[in-house]
Formats: sequence, C-alpha cells, structure tokens
Amino acid sequence: MTSRLVVLVSGSGTNLQALLDACADPDYGARVVAVGADRDGILALERAERAGVPTFVHRVKDYPSREEWDAALADDVAAYQPDLVISAGFMKLVGAAFLAKLRGRFLNTHPALLPSFPGMHGARDALAYGVKVTGATLFVVDEGVDTGVIVAQRVVEVEDDDTEETLHERIKVVERQMLVDAVGRIAREGYLVTERRFRFGSERPRS
Ligand code: GRF
Repeated sequence: MTSRLVVLVSGSGTNLQALLDACADPDYGARVVAVGADRDGILALERAERAGVPTFVHRVKDYPSREEWDAALADDVAAYQPDLVISAGFMKLVGAAFLAKLRGRFLNTHPALLPSFPGMHGARDALAYGVKVTGATLFVVDEGVDTGVIVAQRVVEVEDDDTEETLHERIKVVERQMLVDAVGRIAREGYLVTERRFRFGSERPRS
C-alpha cells in the first residue's frame, strides 16, 4: 500500500521537490497527496502545482487567533488522511489542535544536529558557535521546539570560509537525501518508537 504524504512548506521547496521526484518511482512506497503552506506566492507552491498536487494555504494573519489558525490547518491536513505529514521548511510551530490530530505522524526536518542549535537559524547558530561539524536532523514533532524523537541525522563538515548561505546550502543537499531515504523506509518498512529510540521496521527488538 502506498503511504499518503502531506507536506507543509514556507519557502523554496527543494525538500518538497526531492520528495515529489522520489514519489515518481512506484517502488518508493509513498505519494504526496497535498501540500500546505502558511503563505502565498512561494516557489514551493509552484512546485506542487507543477506536479499536479492539490495545495492549501492558511495564513496566521487571516485568523482571529493562533489557536484558530492551528485548528484550521489541522483540519485541512487531516482531511487528506495522511499516513505521514512532513514539515519541510515550514516556518511555523503547530499547536495543541494539530498535535491532537496528527501526533506521531508529523515529522520535521531541521538544518542542524539536534539537540544542538534548535530554532529558526540552525545553520547560522552553528557557524556562530564555531562547531566543526553540523548537519541535518529529521525528528517526530512534539510540543517542544525541535525536541522530538530523532528519526535520522546526517553530518556536514564546516569549512573555514563558510558563510551561513554556503553552509546551509551544503546542509540542504544532505537534508534532502536524508528526508527521501527516511520517508521511503518508513513507508515501506514502518517504524517503532520506544521512549526516545526510533527504529525502522515493525519488528520489536528482543530486550
Ligand atoms: C531547510 O533547510 C529546512 O530544514 C529549513 O529551511 C530549509 C527549507 O528549504 N527549516 P526548502 O524550502 O525545502 O528549499
């Protein structure tokens, strides 16, 4: 059975594009059934439309409260009956209504090696701190900011002459591969979470 993916975006959508390209192979095991955004006029929405995938947009400023925005977003996402929801460069934190509906199925990709450098500026903060390696992390979203159970990580070396832009671009290359690999494995093999340990496959390991 093919897993149904809903992807949430806010920007250029290169992670979304990597998933769309992977899903073109029927053996991949997943397909993108909808793309949601928190803003209009972004390249990510164009990529979805080009691929013939339905889109929806919920802007926080169009709602009387953040809670109502969150509930509307959750309703639209849930209506597509996703097996997995992927925040791929979606620059908003979701709230209680969203997690109540989609907890355990909502993954986010972050451009740093968590738990280091959570928040909006993973690449910039790693560079400012002076670390020699950083990377990308895929995790299951919980109530915290980038605190959920880790699904996958990839490492990137920091170069002496890196700027935030050059470092983030190299991170994004491995981030896309990580996302495509992990989402495909989840779709084909399933996964188990025990406390903070994530494993691909549905066989419980012997303890
Ligand atoms: C990614 O590095 C993501 O982790 C970060 O923003 C970037 C989104 O890139 N939060 P794109 O829109 O997928 O190209």
